Amino acid sequence: MNNSLININEIKEGALQLRKILLMYESALKEMETKINIISQEFELLYKYNPIEHIKTRIKTPESIVKKLRKKGLEVTYKNLINEINDVAGIRIICSFIPDIYRMVEMFEQTPDVKIIRKKDYIKNPKPSGYSSYHLIVLVPVSFSKGMTNVKVEIQIRTIAMDFWASLEHKIKYKYDERLPKNISKELIDCSRIVNKLDKKMSSLGNKLIEEFDMEQNKKTKNKKHIMKF
Ligand code: GTP
Ligand code: MG
Repeated sequence: MNNSLININEIKEGALQLRKILLMYESALKEMETKINIISQEFELLYKYNPIEHIKTRIKTPESIVKKLRKKGLEVTYKNLINEINDVAGIRIICSFIPDIYRMVEMFEQTPDVKIIRKKDYIKNPKPSGYSSYHLIVLVPVSFSKGMTNVKVEIQIRTIAMDFWASLEHKIKYKYDERLPKNISKELIDCSRIVNKLDKKMSSLGNKLIEEFDMEQNKKTKNKKHIMKF
């Protein structure tokens, strides 16, 4: 990738090079979405329920790419965009229960053409803000007429409750221009503890579902062993 500067006027006009790069990220998101659909169907076969409540995908806008490069003190170039920004393409997977998140991560680890280059477990180690989620940065191969390229995608996996907290916190932070008053930060941290407690309670109920299902399934398989052979 050439090292030319990204011109903000070019961005407004939709420069061809930038459009090509964004197409690359959009294609990577499509590839990943297909893989996630397959993973969730496999999951459904194994655990008899769909672990995914919903999926959101987004491409970072050129304006916020430029803003992020500047914030990092980097020159606004296409090369830096590709090498230094991990979340140009982002996927958010909202799961029902905490164990589903770890099962999803395990399934990504076993997917041959998805290379995990970074893992951050903010569920085991929440951020000081109270934020919790599981983050993966992956490389996914995308093929074009001129060959194949590995494209970076950020995957955030969280529960519905974690998502509720994160979107509220995001909105509040935006309103206060990122400078939260102390009492509000404290309340948000309190909320995150409640979210965590709720998630744990709900997860143990969710586990019961699986265990009970497994027992039912075992009974069935015992009775119909011959049918289950394949
Ligand atoms: P950037 O934050 O993208 O510069 O990279 P990083 O390496 O610090 O990634 P990090 O693991 O901190 O997470 C990046 C993304 O997670 C952010 O873009 C947000 O979408 C989300 N995130 C991280 N921390 C918070 C938080 O405190 N609150 C909320 N609402 N979202 C967060
Ligand atoms: Mg960050």
